[in-house]
Amino acid sequence: MSHFDNGRRIGRRASFVLLVCANVLMMATASAPSPIYPLYRERWGFSVTMLTVIFAGYVAGPLGALLTVGSLSDHLEERPHLGPTGPASRAPRADPVLNPHNQPISTNFLGKDSSMRAITVRDRDAGVSGLTLTDMPYPHAAENDAIVRVYAAGFTPGELDWPGTWSDRAGRDRTPSIPGHELSGVVVELGYGTTGLTVGQRVFGLTDWTRNGSLAEYTAVEARNLAPLAADIDHTVAAALPISGLTAWQGLFDHAHLTTGQTVLIHGAAGGVGSIAVQLAREVGARVIGTGRADDRDVALGLGAQTFLDLDADDLQHVGEVDVVFDVIGGDILERSTELVRPGGTLVTIAMPPTVRPKDGRAIFFVVEPDRARLTDLAQRLRTGRLNPIVGAVRPLSETASAFARHRRTPGKTIIQVADEQGMPTSF
Ligand SMILES: NC(=O)c1ccc[n+]([C@@H]2O[C@H](COP(=O)([O-])OP(=O)(O)OC[C@H]3O[C@@H](n4cnc5c(N)ncnc54)[C@H](OP(=O)(O)O)[C@@H]3O)[C@@H](O)[C@H]2O)c1
Repeated sequence: MSHFDNGRRIGRRASFVLLVCANVLMMATASAPSPIYPLYRERWGFSVTMLTVIFAGYVAGPLGALLTVGSLSDHLEERPHLGPTGPASRAPRADPVLNPHNQPISTNFLGKDSSMRAITVRDRDAGVSGLTLTDMPYPHAAENDAIVRVYAAGFTPGELDWPGTWSDRAGRDRTPSIPGHELSGVVVELGYGTTGLTVGQRVFGLTDWTRNGSLAEYTAVEARNLAPLAADIDHTVAAALPISGLTAWQGLFDHAHLTTGQTVLIHGAAGGVGSIAVQLAREVGARVIGTGRADDRDVALGLGAQTFLDLDADDLQHVGEVDVVFDVIGGDILERSTELVRPGGTLVTIAMPPTVRPKDGRAIFFVVEPDRARLTDLAQRLRTGRLNPIVGAVRPLSETASAFARHRRTPGKTIIQVADEQGMPTSF
């Protein structure tokens, strides 16, 4: 706090004490059988009440004004950054944002009428070749939103087939739309009423399915979809965690209720979701059988799977009975896996609603839900080395189309780096 701030605070306290004294004096004058009371009446014909009003007008008025100005200036001082699209909610001011090397970084680069660089899609039939680097308007912070300066973004293979990529909740065309639903970055603005986050805070999380996503310099996200990110976690690693981490957790534990000592078959064990599922299942003490392509064997075993099956070469039926099947592939592999579920067991899939069910078990298809508390827990596991999301490749925004289009995927997630750790845009 500066000397100026200190002086102003002392001044406000002194004026408050003066106001109280003045009021006490007035009350005493008005109520006591004062010897000067008759004098007022005789000389000036004023009543005590009149005198009190005059006294209050001259003394309490200016003091009251002084106090009001004081508290007003306090209020103004506490107001957070006023974002480019209007008034932000009242949130405490954040300390200057530092990168992991303790260097300050900028948190806001664009104004209301600015445009930003983003990947967009317009034509559903164009597929991956329709992903174009273009200029888009800076996003609007709606109620309970945060605008995040995106440092790193993740995408899900196949998301160009999701209805939410093309239409809003009411089914209306929302193209040109920005894909990508995972992000790590810094909050630069808060919408009206947004709580729980501050401007300048490092965050990571999911973007809404039916709104513009994270393959952009800035994105508007419901604040509840975001969790704080510690300074020692790289944005490129954090961006690999939200969808894969939450999907793996919710599938294994919320839906399939996997517990210690059970056996789980995890398809696509070297992929984005599968690689996290293998690690979480092992940590809970389950026996893990991973599947995938021949090239994925070492990765899956390295993550903790006890057995690996090459789906192109090995016979799935050799697995025997399992308590849980976690499927990320769908189709024929999903169907054949139902026979492996032992009575009372669960098949959980994220690929498609299953058409067949285990004879004496459950079959569940679900869509991942945002969960700030679980994201926080996953980030903590990451910090302590209990969880390691695989970042197979990091590419600039301009290479998003080729990152989507790869014929043979690298293990884990491909991350799009939008800005470096200092917040400077990477080459487009
Ligand atoms: N419902 C939900 O909430 C939800 C959430 C997240 C993801 N998803 C969906 O789940 C799927 C998986 O997502 P992800 O991020 O984990 O994708 P991913 O990173 O591509 O992982 C899938 C893994 O499965 C392997 N694989 C696919 N087909 C295979 C086959 N026939 N034989 C052997 N291996 C095969 C892939 O290998 P290759 O790369 O070599 O093909 C890859 O290693 C996607 O379709 C995604 O849209 C759904």
